[in-house]
Amino acid sequence: MDSEKQISDYTPKPRVLGICGSPRKNGNSDILLDHVLKGTMEHGIATDKVALRNLQFKGCIGCECCRKDKICTGLPDDMSEVYPKIIESQGLVLVSPTHNYNITSWMKAFIDRLYCFYNFEDNRPRGWSSQIENQGRKAVLVAVCEQVDRHDMGFTLEAMRLPIEALGYEVIEELPVFGIFDKAKVKEQNDVLASAISHGVKLAKSFL
Ligand SMILES: Cc1cc2nc3c(=O)[nH]c(=O)nc-3n(C[C@H](O)[C@H](O)[C@H](O)COP(=O)(O)O)c2cc1C
Repeated sequence: MDSEKQISDYTPKPRVLGICGSPRKNGNSDILLDHVLKGTMEHGIATDKVALRNLQFKGCIGCECCRKDKICTGLPDDMSEVYPKIIESQGLVLVSPTHNYNITSWMKAFIDRLYCFYNFEDNRPRGWSSQIENQGRKAVLVAVCEQVDRHDMGFTLEAMRLPIEALGYEVIEELPVFGIFDKAKVKEQNDVLASAISHGVKLAKSFL
């Protein structure tokens, strides 16, 4: 990335960044993310994958350093490696298991750290825009939970969709996966895996 260039002037590349919010290595979310990215790669679009559990990072502390610096400078941690990938990638795939009707704390901390991409005005409440809006960014969201009633997935998809749309992503597909508790059990659900692949294909095709 060209460090002299403003983020808002950047044209993202047709590549896809996948973010896994599960603490469980090789669990259902990892498998689902791998299948979405498989579909994307099959159509010649490069991908990156970040498992948040492997990063040393905190949630946003509201220091507001990003108001001046336009990127997070208040918390020098592993998110510094992820920001350039977000800026460069036109596509984003977020996958989270449901933890207590919501996204995991890893995914929440990740999304809160995207606060640095906003521009705020000085009025109260502050008017705002996003540095990464109007750049043709597209996203796919996946949630997986144990129970089979939609109610028990709670806000998991909404908790990803609202902030991602506010940042300027068009959410082109969402995949809610129900009835999966045991580690890697989703491997037995061929129809679900096929849907994950097809969402990855759709994401790739939207860039071709
Ligand atoms: C702390 C915790 C909270 C959970 N809360 C819910 C819940 O609210 N609703 C639900 O249906 N499943 C819930 N689950 C089950 C997980 O969503 C389910 O096991 C999922 O398949 C885990 O995905 P993973 O293998 O990617 O971590 C919870 C699991 C944990 C560990």
